[in-house]
This record gives sequence, C-alpha cells and structure tokens, in this order.
Amino acid sequence: MSQHPVSEAPSRRKSLHQHQKDFHARFGNGPGTRLFFAPGRVNLMGAHLDYNGGPVMPMAIDRGTFIAARRRADRRVELASTLEKGVLSTSLDDLPARPAGAWHDYPVGVLRHQLAGGGAPCGIELLFGGDLAIGAGLSSSASICVGTAFAVDRLWEQSGSLQRCVDAALFGEREFVGVRCGIMDPYAVGFSRPDHLLWLDCRDASTRHLPLDGKRVSIAVADSGVRRDLAQGAFNQRVAECARVFELLRPFAPGARCLRDVTADLVEEHAQLLGPTLLSRARHVAAEVARTFRARDALLSGDLAGFGAAITEAHGSLRDLFKVSIPELDLLVDAALDWDGVLGTRLTGAGFGGCTVILLRTEARPGLAEHVSESFRRRFGREPRVELFAGDGGPRELPGG
Ligand code: GLA
Repeated sequence: MSQHPVSEAPSRRKSLHQHQKDFHARFGNGPGTRLFFAPGRVNLMGAHLDYNGGPVMPMAIDRGTFIAARRRADRRVELASTLEKGVLSTSLDDLPARPAGAWHDYPVGVLRHQLAGGGAPCGIELLFGGDLAIGAGLSSSASICVGTAFAVDRLWEQSGSLQRCVDAALFGEREFVGVRCGIMDPYAVGFSRPDHLLWLDCRDASTRHLPLDGKRVSIAVADSGVRRDLAQGAFNQRVAECARVFELLRPFAPGARCLRDVTADLVEEHAQLLGPTLLSRARHVAAEVARTFRARDALLSGDLAGFGAAITEAHGSLRDLFKVSIPELDLLVDAALDWDGVLGTRLTGAGFGGCTVILLRTEARPGLAEHVSESFRRRFGREPRVELFAGDGGPRELPGG
C-alpha cells in the first residue's frame, strides 16, 4: 500500500492520545487497539466536474478523521463517534441493509463492501473522531469512508490495496448512502501527497501529482459556518441537471462519453434546446474544463498569478452560472481578494454552505485571518473560522495505538 510517512505534529499527538483514552472509556481497556487517520481535502480547480468526467485538482489536508479500532473475538460491530450522537451496535451478519439517516450510514456502507473483500472478517469496535469540520465542504464523508475502509482492511488482513479502499468509500457513499457524488473526494483522500496537488482526470481515473511549493504558497480555509447535508438533494439536483444536459446534447456530439467532452461552441449552438437553467449549468462545465487545463499549465510553468486567477474565476462561475454559492461564501471570497498576496479564492466542495479555500503567497499570511474575519463579522455579526492548512499524504496507521 503506497504511503507517504508524515510525522504527527505535537498538537495532533495530544488529540490522538485523547482519542485513544476515549476509546478505552467507551469500549473498555485491553490490548489490541490501533489508531488510524484519513485526511479531508480541499479542491482548487475542477468544480463540479468529477461527475461530468472532467479534470479536477484537489489536495488532501492535514485535518481529518481519527479512528481507534480493535478486533473482537465475536462478530459484533460497535460504531461510535466523539463528534456525533448515536451509536450502532449490531453484528456482521446483520448489518443494516438501508441507510438510517445517521452518521454511521457511511461506515456501514463501507463495511458492507469490505465484507466481500476476503481476509478474516471478525467483529470490530470503531471510535470515530478527529479535527475536520463535518459537512463543511472538506469531504468529511470521504474521509470517514476511506478511513473506515483502510482500518478494516488492516484489521481483517485484507488486500492492503489503497485502490480497494477508495472503491469501498465510493460504494459506501454512492450505492449505500445515495449521494450521487463523483470520484474526486475519495481519490483526493486516498492518493494525495504533501506539497502537491492531485491531478485527477475523472474520465479515466488517471492521476498525476503536480508540485505546489509550500514555501512559496500557502492554503487557508475560511468556514462560513453554514452547513448543508449533501444527501439532502441540492447536490443531487445539480448532478441530475448535468446528466440531462448530456442527454440532450449527446446526439450532436458523436463520440462524447460524458459532458466534459461537449464543447462550449456546441453548448451555445443548442442554447434554445437547453433553456436558461440547463444552459447556465452547461456553460459552467464547458468553461471550467478549459479553465482547469489552463490552471494546470499555469501552475506547471510557475505562473502562480495565472493559477490563482483561474481559481477566482471558477468562483464567479459557481456563483453566477452553477448557482451553488451563498452570500456568506461570496463575502469570504471578496474579503480575501482585498488582501495583498492572495492569489485566488473560491468555495470548495459542493457549495450551498461550507468553506472557501484561499491560495496566497506565504509571506502574506500574517493578518489574513483577522482581515477576513473582521469583514465577515461586520456583515453577518459572527466570527468565521479562518485557518491555515497544510497538505497531507493520505490514510495511514499511526504508531502508539
Ligand atoms: C462534492 C462531491 C464531489 C464533487 C464536489 C464538487 O464534494 O462529493 O464529488 O462533485 O462536490 O466539485
């Protein structure tokens, strides 16, 4: 299993130690407890392109899901979380067949997939926690799903394949929970490297790592505090709209396998057929595909200003054409753009709430958080959380479990 060892920061070590204590308080002391970590992610380019077969540029972040885990001698499955209410106590032979609308739907979906994966399945106790905001556009669900798959793969001595963990996560979220998401999030969680963006072409799932020099540029994330559950429909509605656009335009685009293959010119030629709503969705997708390639070229040639400008343009398109922004996110974007040294900024994740991601020159870091917070507070009367994030190297087992 490919892994990039990253030593855990002292603050992280303290929280992990606490997580292990919480595990023992809940499930009892005893040997055999292991600790796992799976990161969250931000996405810099390729907004809403993954389920359209387009290219995306995410990176895993140094915030994520902690899982303390232990094998049992019987076939009981015990799932609990320090971040969410509700536990699941069941048996491997009696895993829920349908989602219950609870946080544990995600690990259950993954377990159902992993059960078919061989090894030596046995009962397990899993305690979830961590330092990743939930439902904030930072991919907490993919982080939980990939983390569960990884932990279970280790506990059951399965294939050790990271690709299988990513597949299990996709199964959990798409087939079991029913979010019609693309492949970006579990790939970003599974296959990222520190100091790189992941280039993922969602048409054939090919990947490449693009260097992002952490000494020159930094990533900040501003959290609007507005939460929206992906499974609740607005996201699935965008997916359905894009599928409809493709269905309508496919007869005019011989050889096209997905909406990503449909050109901007073709979209304009058939504006009437699409009607205003589908036309704006299609315009976003066509422009974002071109912009994402442009952004990659800019990054590879060292043109950070060009790369940042593409990120900010993407936000405009998400706001005006794809209509997934909200005033809180727009304000966070505008406030960050006022700050000298900010290269680009946009909402990250699906939108409708959650966070913006800010790419800035490293020397511009002091004062950014205060400036963005102050602008937000003036308009909305409360504090957003603005933090610097580093990249991360994917799921791993941590020492000292
Ligand atoms: C969510 C989905 C992803 C992707 C993004 C939008 O995060 O889970 O698959 O579609 O939205 O880019």
